[in-house]
Amino acid sequence: MKTLKNIDIKNKSVVIRCDYNVPTEGNIIKDNSKIVKSLPTLNYLLANNCKVIILSHLGRVKSDADKQKNTLRYVAQELADLLKKEVKFVDKCYGDQVHDFVHSCKLGEVILLENTRIMDYPEKLESKNDLRLAQFWASLGDVFVNDAFGSLHRAHASTAGIAKFLPNAIGFLVEDELNNLQILVQDTPHPFGVFMGGAKVDDKLPIIKSLLTRADYILVGGGIANSFLKAKGADIGPSVATDDAEILQELRDLMAKYKGKIILPVDFTIDDGIIYDIGSKSLELYKKYIDNSAIIFVNGTCGKFEDDRFMEGTSSLFKILKNSNKKVIVGGGDTVAAVKKFGFADSFAFLSSGGGATLEYIADGNLAALEWME
Ligand code: 3PG
Repeated sequence: MKTLKNIDIKNKSVVIRCDYNVPTEGNIIKDNSKIVKSLPTLNYLLANNCKVIILSHLGRVKSDADKQKNTLRYVAQELADLLKKEVKFVDKCYGDQVHDFVHSCKLGEVILLENTRIMDYPEKLESKNDLRLAQFWASLGDVFVNDAFGSLHRAHASTAGIAKFLPNAIGFLVEDELNNLQILVQDTPHPFGVFMGGAKVDDKLPIIKSLLTRADYILVGGGIANSFLKAKGADIGPSVATDDAEILQELRDLMAKYKGKIILPVDFTIDDGIIYDIGSKSLELYKKYIDNSAIIFVNGTCGKFEDDRFMEGTSSLFKILKNSNKKVIVGGGDTVAAVKKFGFADSFAFLSSGGGATLEYIADGNLAALEWME
């Protein structure tokens, strides 16, 4: 795999895949950090007098209404403000008009095409990695740069297939993420501790299983902890947990196989019989494991941190992690949002910008889109 500094991009037309899948409310971008994180690569391309043609997805497109709703138009405005430069927004991402417009633009100009996933309706061309679509996007430039870290676990036409048709490299954001996360994949120092929280155990089972083979202990919070407790036979009332009998059996099997490695909370904040957060005794217990770790990977939160009544567990956990002075790597969009909300953005070794991509990279040591690159 080549890095940006190892390919010739000077005075070239560069097609770059970014991950501008940002949270929006109407035309308001609620968190622009993904756009901010793309700036170093874009500025480097502009400093090298490139024409910059940006591709990105936004949300999922399953209907004509989604095509209207999930527009990148407001991202183009935000990007222009951040770059302090005009960004030419094209309200399509495919076809002769797009081709002719992009080719009429000059070196030094920035163009953002409409959401690549509009090509997912009615036929899933983007998500199924349609190579004719990939070839069309490749026809817009001379070089492909993949800087969409958050999307690298998807082998789609704009993240994977396109690399078949152009000389290619990863951008600075992807390089930085891989460099920082590598330590959780290979030669991880021990004791290797993990905190895994969040609502749904089903989604996170693959990473939990992978981490159980490599980590020394996994501290569990949120709905995931409830599911483990339920699997053990605890009465958790109507608290968030899986109902899937097979998954509950799998959790029982994991607890038996990795005895002593899965650390569950021992006290809770409960309202109306529902568990919303972990309590102080659980935090004391977790602190012992954290203080004994050489490195800690954190994904997920302890409870319903968005509600002030149930934020204590999550904010105290971050405080314990910070005060431990251990190497702490945080992954996952919601987790990073919580870290920022409670003022710990500068307290940890690394905050990964990826959600599913971060988890897949740590679980498998590779990412589907990267396998398509040189
Ligand atoms: C993310 O936000 O995690 C990425 O942009 C991937 O989005 P997706 O799950 O819709 O592919």
